[in-house]
Amino acid sequence: MSRLFNVAIVGATGAVGTQMLEILAERNFPVGALRLLASERSEGNFLEFKGEEIMVQTLTAESFVGIDIALFSAGGGISEEFCPIAAAAGAVCIDNSSAWRMDPEVPLVVPEVNPQEIARYVNKRIIANPNCSTIQMVVALKPLHDFSPIRRIVVSTYQAVSGTGQKAIDELRIQTGELLNGRPAECNAYPHQIAFNCLPQIDVFFDNGYTREEMKMVNETRKILGSDAIGLTATAVRVPVFYGHSESVNVEFAGRITVQKARELLAAAPGVELRDDVASQLYPMAVDAAGQDSVYVGRIREDESCAQALNFWVVADNLRKGAATNAVQIAKILAETYL
Ligand SMILES: NC(=O)c1ccc[n+]([C@@H]2O[C@H](COP(=O)([O-])OP(=O)(O)OC[C@H]3O[C@@H](n4cnc5c(N)ncnc54)[C@H](OP(=O)(O)O)[C@@H]3O)[C@@H](O)[C@H]2O)c1
Repeated sequence: MSRLFNVAIVGATGAVGTQMLEILAERNFPVGALRLLASERSEGNFLEFKGEEIMVQTLTAESFVGIDIALFSAGGGISEEFCPIAAAAGAVCIDNSSAWRMDPEVPLVVPEVNPQEIARYVNKRIIANPNCSTIQMVVALKPLHDFSPIRRIVVSTYQAVSGTGQKAIDELRIQTGELLNGRPAECNAYPHQIAFNCLPQIDVFFDNGYTREEMKMVNETRKILGSDAIGLTATAVRVPVFYGHSESVNVEFAGRITVQKARELLAAAPGVELRDDVASQLYPMAVDAAGQDSVYVGRIREDESCAQALNFWVVADNLRKGAATNAVQIAKILAETYL
């Protein structure tokens, strides 16, 4: 790529935004001007990009003049309001929030799964990045689904606090220290203590008894894999881990896939790294996935209660592949192919 692209990061000071900055630099994205945007609380702070200190500016309706690509990670309300403004100013928005994901006009993209969807950015000049738990699961499912179509998925997640953002990372650290010193834990980020605990609630409950996070996994997986026929039920759990979401996935296919075949398919799949050797106690773990871009898969077993089903364990860094890496991968394809 010889052309340079003017890039804005909305939510540049946040848990995802700071990863975006790092990944743009690591991947040597052809950045021309870089505009770092956040709330007025951060106005005047500096963030580093490739050795240069760049001042953070307050997000306004004028922030997108001259911007080619706007990476959004400042929450759904901000994306709802400002993506159309950025698009009208000529930018293409890659949005990490849930604001646009289920809009039929907006492509919902995981580059290893449905990169062809990026072409539909022309509809609204918005491309949606899926939910972090969905991204890592569909990267692992895609090669298996291509071999034998998925009928039904049962997934339980073990999600890190960084999925909630910087305030929850701080809360786990502070609560752990307080409790170890015999002092009470103060709860702000979650309705209950997260240190030394597991919370079977991520986001709000709907009338059907599922949480919004669980229903995101259902709806987004179907949209990305392009099949409303896939049955899916999810239980999303917050665990006291800083970085890296883990998932126990049970999948029933139209035909049988042996463990050996699944290993072959996953070993050859883009974005996947197999960690599957129980004799050596080798399996994916959040501590190993943190800071990495791959989706790690292991503990692959045939479901002995169902002839055409497999169980496996999937782990990825939620801030990287679950958010920032996926967005930068989309930006790269967009820049190389469409802009
Ligand atoms: N964390 C994850 O694993 C993950 C994964 C996928 C998607 N996402 C999505 O990414 C988004 C950000 O998540 P995060 O974890 O990075 O949250 P975070 O750490 O809380 O960061 C939020 C960012 O948004 C900015 N912001 C807040 N209010 C604003 C306003 N009124 N105007 C402009 N900027 C504002 C904040 O700026 P200040 O510093 O100035 O407050 C900060 O930069 C959310 O939509 C989230 O759902 C997160």
